[in-house]
Amino acid sequence: MIARMAVLMVLEPRLATLTYAAPHLIASQALTYTMQLSGSRAVTQDQALRRTAVALMSVEPTPIDSPRPPRTADPNMYLATEVEEVAVAGEAAVESHVNQLYYKDNTWHATPQDGHPEAVPSDAMVSDAQLTTRTYADGAKEWEIESPITFQYRVRESADVFALDSDVLLFGHLTTAEDLLRAKLRALKRVVVVDDNVYALYGERIDAYFAHHDVQVKLMVLETTEENKDIQMALQIAEAVHELGIDRRLDPVIAIGGGVCMDIVGFAASIYRRRTPYIRVPTTLMGYVDASVGAKSGVNFLGKKNKLGCYLPPALALLDRSFLASLDARQLSNGAAEIMKMAMVKDKELFSLLEQHGPSLIEHKFQTLPAAAEGEAGEVGEVVSVGEGGAAAPSRVLFLAIHTMLQELAPNLWEDSLERLVDFGHVFSMELEMAVLHTDKLYHGEAVAVDMAFCTVLAYVRGQITAEYRDRLLATLRGLGLPVFHAGFDEAMVEEALYERVKFSSGQKIPLPTAEGESRLFNDISMDQCREALALWPTLV
Ligand SMILES: NC(=O)c1ccc[n+]([C@@H]2O[C@H](COP(=O)([O-])OP(=O)(O)OC[C@H]3O[C@@H](n4cnc5c(N)ncnc54)[C@H](O)[C@@H]3O)[C@@H](O)[C@H]2O)c1
Ligand SMILES: [Zn+2]
Repeated sequence: MIARMAVLMVLEPRLATLTYAAPHLIASQALTYTMQLSGSRAVTQDQALRRTAVALMSVEPTPIDSPRPPRTADPNMYLATEVEEVAVAGEAAVESHVNQLYYKDNTWHATPQDGHPEAVPSDAMVSDAQLTTRTYADGAKEWEIESPITFQYRVRESADVFALDSDVLLFGHLTTAEDLLRAKLRALKRVVVVDDNVYALYGERIDAYFAHHDVQVKLMVLETTEENKDIQMALQIAEAVHELGIDRRLDPVIAIGGGVCMDIVGFAASIYRRRTPYIRVPTTLMGYVDASVGAKSGVNFLGKKNKLGCYLPPALALLDRSFLASLDARQLSNGAAEIMKMAMVKDKELFSLLEQHGPSLIEHKFQTLPAAAEGEAGEVGEVVSVGEGGAAAPSRVLFLAIHTMLQELAPNLWEDSLERLVDFGHVFSMELEMAVLHTDKLYHGEAVAVDMAFCTVLAYVRGQITAEYRDRLLATLRGLGLPVFHAGFDEAMVEEALYERVKFSSGQKIPLPTAEGESRLFNDISMDQCREALALWPTLV
C-alpha cells in the first residue's frame, strides 16, 4: 500500500499538493483509498506519508513493514490522473462559455460567445480577466473567474533616507503624476513604526526629518523582537493607523527596523482595510537583502513562526546601507548568510566577491572599504570588476544579492511554484533552529550557514562538486564569520527534515550546488548519501 502511494506521489505530485491544500476537492474514490491505507494498517496518514518519504529517499529499498507489491504492475497507478479530472469538474459540464470582459459606458460587459473578438467595440477597454460560465446536466450553473492581479513595487537604493532635502521616503511610492500632485496638495500624515534600538540610535534624525517636511506623525517606537512578533502588536499598529485616519492610497505606513519590524508592519498594513500601502526601511543586513525585497509578511502564531501572514508587497523598499554601520559583527554575518545563499545558487561573481572580500565586508560593516582593506583584498586573488582594488565590493555585493534574489522572487511572489532555488540552506536549518531553540540560540542565518555547509559536503559526496570547490565554499562561509558545523545536526534531524520536505513540497526538490555559482534541485537524495556526508563533515571543519 505504501509503495502504491509512493508511486502515486512520484507519478502525480499534484495529488500530494491537492491533498494538503484542498482535501475537500479530492474525489471520494481517492479519499477511500487513502483511508483504507490508513485504516487497514492502523497507521495514521501522517505515519504513512512519513514512511513514503523515507521510501522515496532511499536508493536501496528500505525495509518497511511488509513485502512491497511491484511498483509498475499496480492498477491504481493511474488513479491520480482520474482524481485530477474528477476533482476539477465533478460531473462534466454539458456547456461551457469563456467570456471576455470589456468596459464601456461605465460598466463591464461580457462578450456573448467564445472566440468572437469582433464582439468587443473598438473603443472599449478589455480586461485581462475572464469569466467562464458552465451549465451542468441538472441545469446548475457555474461561474469560473480568472483574474490576473499585478503587483508593482519598487526596491530602491538610497544613500541617506533621512537627508532633509530628500522626499523619497514621503513620495517615492507614488507612480503617477496625478497621485503625486494629490499627495503634495494635502497635509502629510504618516504612521511610522520604528524598532526601539534603531530609534535609540537614529531617533533624532528621524524626528528631524518628519518635522522638516511638516508631517503629522504617529510615531510608534516598539520593541519589535521575535518574542513580540505577534498579532497583538500588529493590531496595535492597525489601531494607530485607524486613529490617524490616513488616505488609503496616498499615505503609506512606514516601517524602520530589522526583519521583525518589516514583517509586523507589513502584516498590519496588509490586513488593515484589506490592504494599506507600506514602506520598508530595513536597518539590518537580513532586512536589507531578504526581509525587505519580497512580498511576504507575517507574525508568529500558536508558537509557530510566521503562521499568520500575507503576500502583499510593500509599495516601496528603501535600502540605505549606512544603517548597517551600527550592527555588530554577528548580526552582519547573520545577514551575510542569505547573500552567500544567492552566491551559491546562482551567481559566480557574487561568490567570487564574497570569497575575496568576506572578512573585510564584515569588518567594515558593508560600508565602502578603506584603502588598507582594498590592498589586502586585492592580494587574495583575482580582483573582480568592482572598481579599484575592490573598494566598491560592498555596494556591488549588495546590488547582486538584491538583483539575484528579485530574479527568483518576482515570477513567484506567491510561492505557487515549489521549485525554489532560494530554499537553499533552508531545508535542514528549520529542524536545526527548532532543535536548539532552548539551548543554544542560533540566529536564522547561522542555521542557514550550517545547512549550506552540510549541503556542500553532501553535494561533494554525491559527486556534484570537486573537493577543491567544497573547501572554497566552506572557507568563504568561515570568512563571513559564519558557523560551518553544528554538533546537534545529526542523522535523526536529517531524516526528519527530508520527511518534512517531501510532505510539504511534494517531492524532495532540494537545492544543492553543482558548480561555482550554480545549483540545481534534486529529488534523489538518499539517506545513505546523507550518512556519508555526516561522517565526512566533521573531518573538514
Ligand atoms: N518577510 C520575509 O521575506 C523575511 C525574510 C527574512 C527574514 N524575515 C524575518 O525577519 C526576522 C529577522 O530579522 P533580523 O535578523 O533583521 O532581526 P531583528 O529585526 O530582530 O533585528 C535584529 C536586532 O538588531 C537590532 N537592530 C536593527 N537595526 C539596527 C541597526 N541599524 N543598528 C543596531 N542594531 C539594530 C534590532 O533591534 C534587533 O535587536 C525574522 O522574524 C524573520 O522571520 C522575513
Ligand atoms: Zn532565510
